[in-house]
Amino acid sequence: MNDIRAKVALITGGTKGIGYGIAQAMIAQGMRVAITGRNLEAAQQAAQGLGEYAIGLASDVTDYSSQEKVVETVLEKWGQLDVLIANAGVGHFAPIDELSAQQWNQTIDTNLTGVFYSVKASLAAIKSTKGYIITISSLAGTNFFARGTAYNASKFGLTGFTQALMLDVRKDDVKVTTIMPGSVSSHFGGRSPEEGKDWRIQPEDIGQITVDLLKMHPRTFPSKVEVRPSKTASN
Ligand SMILES: NC(=O)c1ccc[n+]([C@@H]2O[C@H](COP(=O)([O-])OP(=O)(O)OC[C@H]3O[C@@H](n4cnc5c(N)ncnc54)[C@H](OP(=O)(O)O)[C@@H]3O)[C@@H](O)[C@H]2O)c1
Repeated sequence: MNDIRAKVALITGGTKGIGYGIAQAMIAQGMRVAITGRNLEAAQQAAQGLGEYAIGLASDVTDYSSQEKVVETVLEKWGQLDVLIANAGVGHFAPIDELSAQQWNQTIDTNLTGVFYSVKASLAAIKSTKGYIITISSLAGTNFFARGTAYNASKFGLTGFTQALMLDVRKDDVKVTTIMPGSVSSHFGGRSPEEGKDWRIQPEDIGQITVDLLKMHPRTFPSKVEVRPSKTASN
């Protein structure tokens, strides 16, 4: 897929943060992009900021039928789907005795089952274009830490899911990569994008990596990409 102009992408959770940064990078390359979020108005507003080749759709990744509907809408509008970015995610961080069952369930339902749903709903369309699936995991998908039981479980699971998916669909000429960022400036976990802006990865950096992956010669693809800030909070 090294010529990516006019290719069509669906980004789950593209209203802000990393998903929005990926959408901006794709639009700059001439792609057409559908972004989703749980709130229609927020999704449409974000899409407006991206210009005429973007649409904003309401969809909760924890609801399989809403994922199917989004794919149908994209196919009706543009007739094809080339790229899925399974990005939507939440972060609840607390010691195990303070983590609620509701926080556990939301983390697993969004970060793991939600990715399964978005992949399942778009797979036939992606196979027909010999397209690309990229999941946004995290360094927390291989490195565990205190207060991270729910988040680590969801992202370790997502890393395993994505690698097994890659082996399943390689025969169909569908490429699969998981991007595993360290700390990114965004609204993640309720923080402000301004917080730690001097050292954190920026959403546009993940956007740049994503378009670089899509532009690679079709014979090759990196299946796992770890991304780190060059500095840490303390240096
Ligand atoms: N920020 C980091 O340091 C970091 C590092 C590594 C990996 N990641 C991963 O990167 C991904 C994006 O996070 P971010 O940093 O960009 O956070 P963010 O700024 O909070 O953005 C999260 C996005 O996910 C959407 N979302 C959340 N729950 C959803 C659901 N159930 N259905 C549909 N959309 C949903 C949000 O949209 P609405 O609120 O409009 O629904 C928003 O667009 C996540 O998977 C996260 O785990 C983040």
